[in-house]
Amino acid sequence: MPSPLILKLPQILFLSALFTTVYAPYWASKTIWYECSTDSNYTTNSTYHSNLNLLLPSLSSATLSTGFATLSKGQPPDQVFGLAFCRGDVSQDECQSCLSTADQDLLQLCPSGKSAAIWPESCFLRYSNRSFPSSTSDDDSFRRILYNGGNVSEPTKFEKLLSELLNNLTERAAYQSVRMFATGEAEFMTSTTLYGLVQCTRDQSGDDCYRCLTVSAGEIPKSIWGKQGAAVLAYTCIMRFEIYPFYNESVGAAPPPPPSTDTVSPPPEASTPPVKERGKYEISKSFILFIGELSCSHSIT
Ligand SMILES: *[C@@H]1O[C@H](CO)[C@@H](O)[C@H](O)[C@H]1NC(C)=O
Ligand SMILES: *[C@@H]1O[C@H](CO)[C@@H](O)[C@H](O)[C@H]1NC(C)=O
Ligand SMILES: *[C@@H]1O[C@H](CO)[C@@H](O)[C@H](O)[C@H]1NC(C)=O
Ligand SMILES: *[C@@H]1O[C@H](CO)[C@@H](O)[C@H](O)[C@H]1NC(C)=O
Ligand SMILES: *[C@@H]1O[C@H](CO)[C@@H](O)[C@H](O)[C@H]1NC(C)=O
Ligand SMILES: *[C@@H]1O[C@H](CO)[C@@H](O)[C@H](O)[C@H]1NC(C)=O
Repeated sequence: MPSPLILKLPQILFLSALFTTVYAPYWASKTIWYECSTDSNYTTNSTYHSNLNLLLPSLSSATLSTGFATLSKGQPPDQVFGLAFCRGDVSQDECQSCLSTADQDLLQLCPSGKSAAIWPESCFLRYSNRSFPSSTSDDDSFRRILYNGGNVSEPTKFEKLLSELLNNLTERAAYQSVRMFATGEAEFMTSTTLYGLVQCTRDQSGDDCYRCLTVSAGEIPKSIWGKQGAAVLAYTCIMRFEIYPFYNESVGAAPPPPPSTDTVSPPPEASTPPVKERGKYEISKSFILFIGELSCSHSIT
């Protein structure tokens, strides 16, 4: 099995069950993050292991049609529960390839953990000997924030716009989307557009989705004020924003407004020359790649 190209950060970071934020740069890798249980292991060729091996392919195929599935295999005490979703904008082919890579990566990265979760770029996969969504408070309070190292030039203005955009997307994903998925754009400066994406696992109520995303959005100004991109990972919702398009804009966008309420974009602030912002964007992009290459030297063997 090929080694996944993966960002591996010190395992010590995973041990804290409290609400923690990891300040880590990331790049557009296959895998953004993963978590393994280390307190409950299964043994090779155990019943749990074979149930897990049965679960993963079934879970992937169950997920393809609607983009979300939960499934279990086996009987207690060896029952394995799985949950998976694909990002709302990806095709079935991309969904399938994301999940099958996620399966392989997770088995390799967490070779004996009874519980594990992985957040690749365009899907999410999780398994445990505990059923979903009987989430624990540890699950609810778990957040990982991986950010883009680039800074925006007008952070106060940016954070305000970001918060507004994420609020709008949260509202839509929780209450107006069958897939609990929403994407949207907002113009930050004339040459800079802010792109946001949110998604919840569909095994929860709209209110729970709303709560999960609201907590995630609330962490952003507290933890990464002024950063131009980040992914906020949780077990029941994901959130991401960037100043470049990172999703398929023709899926998950808001329905077009009625013609009577059409508005033109607000004029750019006179004090903010757009040329500067374009420069920053380019710098931060190569910054991400640089970090990526550094991280590769720590990849799993
Ligand atoms: C589970 O496995 C991990 C990794 O192999 C190990 O670090 C950990 O100590 C094990 N936990 C228990 C409870 O055996
Ligand atoms: C999951 O496995 C751990 C460790 O073996 C055990 O302590 C726990 O009770 C199990 N949970 C369930 C719901 O079976
Ligand atoms: C697990 O089962 C496989 C196939 O039956 C066998 O080749 C392998 O040696 C077993 N591993 C352990 C640790 O028992
Ligand atoms: C962003 O700002 C922080 C704090 O001011 C600084 O340490 C960091 O180097 C800046 N990053 C870039 C890419 O300029
Ligand atoms: C948020 O939604 C409101 C109401 O639909 C809209 O007026 C506003 O422009 C939206 N803001 C952003 C940043 O998307
Ligand atoms: C974006 O989504 C649309 C609608 O599903 C699809 O037709 C198009 O091929 C997708 N574009 C990309 C680049 O994946």
